[in-house]
Formats: sequence, structure tokens, C-alpha cells
Amino acid sequence: MSIPVPTNGTLRLGSKAPDFTAETSNGPISFHEYLGDSWAVLFSHPDDFTPVCTTELGAFAKLEPEFSKRGVKLIGLSANDTTSHKAWIKDIDEITGSKLTFPIIADQNREIALKFDMIDFQDATNLDDKGVQLTIRSVFIIDPKKTIRLILSYPASTGRNTAEVLRVVDSLQTGDKYRITTPINWVPGDDVIVHPTVSNELAKEIFPKFRIIKPYLRLTPLDLSDK
Ligand code: BEZ
Repeated sequence: MSIPVPTNGTLRLGSKAPDFTAETSNGPISFHEYLGDSWAVLFSHPDDFTPVCTTELGAFAKLEPEFSKRGVKLIGLSANDTTSHKAWIKDIDEITGSKLTFPIIADQNREIALKFDMIDFQDATNLDDKGVQLTIRSVFIIDPKKTIRLILSYPASTGRNTAEVLRVVDSLQTGDKYRITTPINWVPGDDVIVHPTVSNELAKEIFPKFRIIKPYLRLTPLDLSDK
């Protein structure tokens, strides 16, 4: 049985990330061309010069070397123009001690926010000075085939957790490489779950140290050196 999935343009896990051109704090970009063969984390902010967003961007900038090591490009978005973004980046670096170099998309007309469904229904206070809805805190993890692999939506009031975004990148990249899934609160180095489609016979070959907790829950250390 398959469940009919409405095709009204809503982005879901597995959708192709829409392409777009935009002005950014680093100059104009064509999104797919900019990504090339990299993974990407695209994340939106409501507004420049706002406190939660400032802390988030500083934190993403500080963690950027870890994303780069994993072949991931960071790209932010906020509903303001590039002049505002450039001035704000100076503040972010001053306040948080970051050195923010990744692009922040200027989406003052919400064109990209609408393509990526980054506008909410529920926060009647998340408006600009003209009463137009601001973007919420969305996160998209996009793989090198431009497939959306994760979507998170946070309200304007709640800052995200950069370590969690990095953790999901690690889980997705590890799951793409080996026939495994990752349990609750997994971080690299923890035991992983043998994928349900792998038989016990095959699991013995691929993961010699695997153990059966229940027939549906089989754990193994992932010794990357022997893979
Ligand atoms: C903030 O980043 O602090 C923020 C932005 C918009 C609405 C509420 C909070």
C-alpha cells in the first residue's frame, strides 16, 4: 500500500531543493551552482540586528571549520538587504568573537523564504516594521544531489543548537556510507544500529562485533579503520 502524497509544492524530506539566484553578503549567487558537489546547511533568520539571531550566526561561524571538514557549506538567510547584512556581520563578529565568512542571503522580499516555506502562521509578533511576516528559524540539510535530507522549523523565540545540526550531518553521512542507522542522542563513536534490511548473516560479515539485543535491534561499534 502506498499513501498518496499531495504534490502541492510543499517541500518534504526527499524533495529537490529549489534553485534560485540571490544577492548575499558575499555577492550574487546561483544556489545550485554555489553548492557544487558539497553538502549544505541552509538556515533562515527572522531579522538582522536581533539578539537570538546574532548568537546563532556567531555560533554557526565558529563551528564552520567542522562543517567544512565534512564537505558542508553553510549559507544563512535573513529578511534584510546586503547593506544591512554586512553591517550586522561586523556586530556579530564583535559580540561573539566569530569571523563569519559564509554568505547570508538578502531576502527582504521573502522570495526565497516562500520557496522554502520559511514563513509561519503562529507568531503574530514576528513581523517587520511594515507588518510583513518575517522568516522563522528553518534549517535544511541538503546533500550533494540537492536532495533535502532534514527540515527543522524553530519559532523566532528559540535559538537553535549548532551541535545538533552537525550531529545530523554526521548521522546522514555515516548512514549513506554504511548500512546503519543511528539511535537516540547518537554522536560519532557511539554504537550504531545495523540497518533492518541487513540479514544477520550479512551483518556478521560486515560488522563482526554486532550484537542482537532483540531481533529488531542489533547494535554494532563502527570501527571506521576496517571499513
Ligand atoms: C531574535 O533574534 O532575538 C528575534 C528575532 C525576531 C523575533 C524575535 C526574536
